[in-house]
Amino acid sequence: MPDDRPLSPATIAVTAGRPSAAGDPLNQPIVLASNFRSGGDYTRTHGTDTWAALETAVGALEGGRAIAFASGMAAAAAIVYALTPKVVVIPTFSYLGVRSLLSEYHAQGHVELRPVDITDTAQVVSAAVGSDVVWVETPTNPTLDVADLPAIAAGVNAAGAQMVVDSTFATPLLQRPLEHGATIVLHSGTKFIGGHSDLLIGLCVTTDDDVYDRLVKARTFQGATPGALEAFLALRGLRTLPIRLAAMQKNAAVLVERLRAHPAVADVRYPGQGAMVSFIVNGGATAADALCEGVRIVVPATSLGGVETTIERRQKYAGDAHVPPGLLRMSVGIEDVEDLWADLDANLSR
Ligand SMILES: Cc1ncc(COP(=O)(O)O)c(C=O)c1O
Repeated sequence: MPDDRPLSPATIAVTAGRPSAAGDPLNQPIVLASNFRSGGDYTRTHGTDTWAALETAVGALEGGRAIAFASGMAAAAAIVYALTPKVVVIPTFSYLGVRSLLSEYHAQGHVELRPVDITDTAQVVSAAVGSDVVWVETPTNPTLDVADLPAIAAGVNAAGAQMVVDSTFATPLLQRPLEHGATIVLHSGTKFIGGHSDLLIGLCVTTDDDVYDRLVKARTFQGATPGALEAFLALRGLRTLPIRLAAMQKNAAVLVERLRAHPAVADVRYPGQGAMVSFIVNGGATAADALCEGVRIVVPATSLGGVETTIERRQKYAGDAHVPPGLLRMSVGIEDVEDLWADLDANLSR
């Protein structure tokens, strides 16, 4: 095979980060060590081969160098530490945890925040002028707004700011923000990358060597290191991300079409790809809560991205008070779609 033939993401997901010497195990084993004999090093400062394998694979998919963290939030906190911004443009409607983190920095007087509607490119670009970091999340959690990454990147570049993209909902397979000029891509690997609701992990990816070094320092100083088992499981999950995502998207397309036609559903938000679907039921919070209590296959749960379909009414969180009361955010899994629909339909029609 010619060396310069680019591999498809489905192949990279399976092959990147594998040991390759004669006699090696096919998968990088779990290195359970904090300390190495002289000639080796210390795990918090120098990592392990288990972390490195995961970082190699995620970096290869995103087109940069990856750093693994204890969780998505640890990765987000490391970005703030690494870029030390004074002025940050943030989406008004986006993942609550990151917004809360930045609001906390703001309350402590460390940072000025400029909230924007991420779908309004002109507003984002004008807010970028005089800012240090433009924090984009796309699609957003939980309203599934989509940002025009290339247009925003051009404006952010012209303003001399840096763009961070939380790409958790898109996964490394549906969008490659570094190609659009992002300085850092952020993933909660807890979600689709891990894919089985059994671990917490976070990842940052960058092509900027200086930013890479600062992110590694952030992990070292803050001690936000991934667990050995978690890194192993996240890479094991990543190996099947392409087929899981394909199955999830197939299910999502069917459910979106049927939800749109259902008289009990007022609105459906779906960006056309991915496994996240948000829909608003008639009857507000009461009807939405009743659906969450009634479902038998769909799991009422707060996290997402696993093989199982999960659902949650987001407005119940104080920080998500802006979300419509009857909005249900659903992470579509890989179950049989007719079983999923029967479960949803029975509870919508009640
Ligand atoms: C878009 C997004 N970014 C970041 C995070 C934080 O990730 P973690 O829970 O792994 O810390 C989440 C978690 O829900 C998320 O949905």
